[in-house]
Amino acid sequence: MRLLMVAPPGAGKGTQAVRLASYYTIAHLSSGDLFRKEVAAGSEVGRRAAEFLARGDLVPDGLVLQVLAPHVLDAAAHGGYVLDGYPRTLAQAEEAHEVAGRISGVELQAVVHLEVGRDELLRRLLARAAQDGRADDQESVIHHRLDVYDRETAPMLGFYASRGLVVDVDGEGAVDEVFEAIVGAVDALRAGLA
Ligand code: AP5
Ligand code: MG
Repeated sequence: MRLLMVAPPGAGKGTQAVRLASYYTIAHLSSGDLFRKEVAAGSEVGRRAAEFLARGDLVPDGLVLQVLAPHVLDAAAHGGYVLDGYPRTLAQAEEAHEVAGRISGVELQAVVHLEVGRDELLRRLLARAAQDGRADDQESVIHHRLDVYDRETAPMLGFYASRGLVVDVDGEGAVDEVFEAIVGAVDALRAGLA
């Protein structure tokens, strides 16, 4: 199974991706987690990406592909993946689609779009900020990340919708309810395509 999560910051991409990876026995690939690991390790890529993460801006495409490509190819060869945070722009989606067209067994099979209102997104991210908060969980940066999603990421949904891959799922319920809804929608889509 090869899935992509598309949703704004705080919608539950990571929370649900961990569960989906376990349920379908596939790898969970979080672009944000991979970048935070590089930053923490002080690698060359991490040093170049750090300022973008801190501001809530997107890391330049060249760096993104450099970090993600080996993980995606490896996971594709071992049962599949749930991509959490990549592709994140129309340009990244088009590039990934183009690469997938040249290699068999890596193209996406479903795109999970979690729908959560801005008030709830803010509430969740501010709650996380008050606990173990990430470096980018500061109110001004959170607002910026949400704006970047609306401007750069949301337009990508049309690309996948035109290919019949998008399932829209209400992400405002409890974690278990949202999970059940995702699995139901993905399995229904796959059954329809089979
Ligand atoms: P990334 O790490 O992807 O962060 P994000 O999109 O800002 O999203 P979050 O991880 O904050 O939210 P989430 O949707 O995963 O929700 P979560 O499950 O954590 O990206 C970070 C940065 O990396 C970017 O800004 C950019 O700089 C860079 N980057 C990454 N990918 C890139 C790319 N492809 N190109 C360029 N740059 C890239 O949940 C949030 C909170 O809500 C948690 O506390 C959770 O416990 C809670 N919660 C979850 N579900 C529920 C629920 N149903 N009910 C109540 N609470 C819930
Ligand atoms: Mg996340």
